[in-house]
Amino acid sequence: MSKRKNGIIVAIDGPAGVGKSTVGRMVAERLNYGFLSTGKMYRALAWKALQAGLDLADEDALMNLAGKLKWGFTRGSGPELLVSIDGRTLIGEITTESVGKATSALARLGSVRAFMCDMQRGAGIEGGFVMEGRDIGTNVFPDAELKIYLDASPEARAGRRLRQLSEQGLRAEYAQILEFIVKRDAQDSQRKNNPLKKAEDGVYLDSTNITRAQAVEEILKLCRGAIEKAGQ
Ligand code: C5P
Repeated sequence: MSKRKNGIIVAIDGPAGVGKSTVGRMVAERLNYGFLSTGKMYRALAWKALQAGLDLADEDALMNLAGKLKWGFTRGSGPELLVSIDGRTLIGEITTESVGKATSALARLGSVRAFMCDMQRGAGIEGGFVMEGRDIGTNVFPDAELKIYLDASPEARAGRRLRQLSEQGLRAEYAQILEFIVKRDAQDSQRKNNPLKKAEDGVYLDSTNITRAQAVEEILKLCRGAIEKAGQ
């Protein structure tokens, strides 16, 4: 494979709540690479579709909306690309549970996925990029120089999410979070189009019993090997 302009592509896939974003952002910071959490693109469309009162199974209406929006991806002060539509940068409004649920529903649709995939390729093709999602190593960048499947048990992920919410002063039920996580995993891994799965040549990293910082160090080790191998 020919060398990319800015470095390698690191694809991180895995289920909901496993810490792909936190870990991916930290890895990108250490490598001085860009970072994109691709779920934000799907979430942005779901948020807009909910606002417009669209049926989340109506592929034509969703594609019509997606095509009309002015999508923006700009780097903020850190490595992360901020997603904006029609000039509005989306942050807190797209992270609610209701948007998450709607997102998983529209992310099943083939044409929506193809639309997002094109934008993601455009953002990362020159390399020097860490990208996280559900299908980055299998579909968006099957030629990524490093593919990681980051996993953790549903119980560990629910426990972490509960702690995160309580640190923000928010109350939630462990059982409800766990149920939500299990449902989202099923939806994402059982869909027909680009389901969540480990790339055949990907590295499986179970983070159930390690900290985020340890996961970052593990991935950085793999990155150094991949960068050397790619001659970057
Ligand atoms: O990662 P995040 O929780 O923000 O993703 C929200 C939803 O977007 C996921 O549950 C999944 O259905 C969808 N998604 C996807 N493919 C990606 C990223 C996210 O299907 N590459």
